[in-house]
Amino acid sequence: MTNQTQQLSLQIGDVAPDFVAQTTDGLLYFHQWLGNSWCVFFSHPKDFTPVCTTELGLASRLKSQFEKRKVKLIALSVGSVVDHSEWTKDINETQHTSVNFPLIGDENGQIANLYGMIHPKANDTFTVRTVFIIDPSKKIRLMMTYPASTGRNFTEILRVIDSMQLTDNHSVATPADWKWGDECVILPSVTDQNTLKKLFPNGYRQIKPYLRMTPQPGVGQES
Ligand code: BEZ
Repeated sequence: MTNQTQQLSLQIGDVAPDFVAQTTDGLLYFHQWLGNSWCVFFSHPKDFTPVCTTELGLASRLKSQFEKRKVKLIALSVGSVVDHSEWTKDINETQHTSVNFPLIGDENGQIANLYGMIHPKANDTFTVRTVFIIDPSKKIRLMMTYPASTGRNFTEILRVIDSMQLTDNHSVATPADWKWGDECVILPSVTDQNTLKKLFPNGYRQIKPYLRMTPQPGVGQES
């Protein structure tokens, strides 16, 4: 089995594979660098390309939003750290920012293959736009794949992180098109009346036994 075949089978719930890489911030041991943080690990087709330039610029400008949620950012494209550093100057100039997270140098595509970021039918060298969201236990919680020609929506990435953190901390899921402050859905696994009272002091609406809506927990208690 090739690396590629193996790694295209990465799934939600798998531990994110560890690696050592040269980056624009120096040598990085991935699991050690993750520590207890969440992480958005995203790939770019190629250095010195327009859509990627806008994405890295936007992600840099949104860094404080990710930090607020205890999320680290790290990006990869198949290219050298020297090229990434040169390109960073253009990103800073044109996107009015200063790239503030590591870009992984992956000249031979080894890490891209480890994560199944190269889809040979799209392009046999360059990565597609993948996003892996990794939680503090280093498990993959979300995988998203976009074509090279479509820039990603970083507001959606923040939204899904909010949703997953609400699930972890408050036993709720989030309905279609949920946004911060909207009602949430009580996890079907929570059925005990005392637990329901304790977890949802503001009450809930039962529309069906399996469809119970509650005000978003924690709203108004943000730091
Ligand atoms: C871009 O980042 O602009 C891009 C890269 C590959 C194909 C199309 C667009």
